[in-house]
Amino acid sequence: MIVSTEPQTCELKCSKIGRRQCLKNFLLVTGTLIAEVIFTRSASAIGSSSGVLRIHVSSLAALVPVGGSVLVTYDAGATQLLINRSSAGNFYVLNPTCTHAGCTVGLYVAANRGISCHCHGSFFDISGQVLNGPANRPLAAYQSSFDGDDTLSVTVPGLEFYIESVQLESPTAAGRRLKISFPTHAFASYSIQRTANLTDAPQTINFATTATGVANQTTLLGTGEPMSVWVDASASTGFFTLSLQLYEVS
Ligand code: FES
Repeated sequence: MIVSTEPQTCELKCSKIGRRQCLKNFLLVTGTLIAEVIFTRSASAIGSSSGVLRIHVSSLAALVPVGGSVLVTYDAGATQLLINRSSAGNFYVLNPTCTHAGCTVGLYVAANRGISCHCHGSFFDISGQVLNGPANRPLAAYQSSFDGDDTLSVTVPGLEFYIESVQLESPTAAGRRLKISFPTHAFASYSIQRTANLTDAPQTINFATTATGVANQTTLLGTGEPMSVWVDASASTGFFTLSLQLYEVS
């Protein structure tokens, strides 16, 4: 029985990704609440829908002050979001790919009142509008909204980010388990959280990557294909969420 859908939270952690020096990363949590062990949800074709990332602004020190700016990614840089804070209650989330010839622009610099592209000198304002060429089109913007408190919601086209199915598997040598399946993005890092009820904060839990394997992993690296993990199902009820790590790019 489905009791609700898609709670989202954010936590701060540290890690490295690829060759990029990662100063910080944080968990973007989405997923679907389930009761007992039965779960259904309509699935979207990979690449055909948008996912919503919910970011706790306070988790990113650079975004706390007005004029702050940060560059983040969840898939080793294939997708990047340049987030600029223009006022206490307003943010711009931009694609940092320069519209002149495709270089990655820098962060917004409050002292300069703009964003520079170091390849050929284009200059954009905090919202991505062109102030100086040779670029003649604004930076692409992601749809976003701020709740006025701490949560910035960003819609990312093509981001598939949900639990597709949960299936109870018969007891094996590994015990009673739930198979949780979801689409993945290549090089994206996923984890699973569980809470026994809606009032408690979800906790990261161990999982196995095979039906009978040892449940000793907490992160899964996406391949770009649908993947599954197996978690302990000894508890009769619980609520599970799928988490996606978002990395700050330095
Ligand atoms: S690529 Fe940015 S100014 Fe040319």
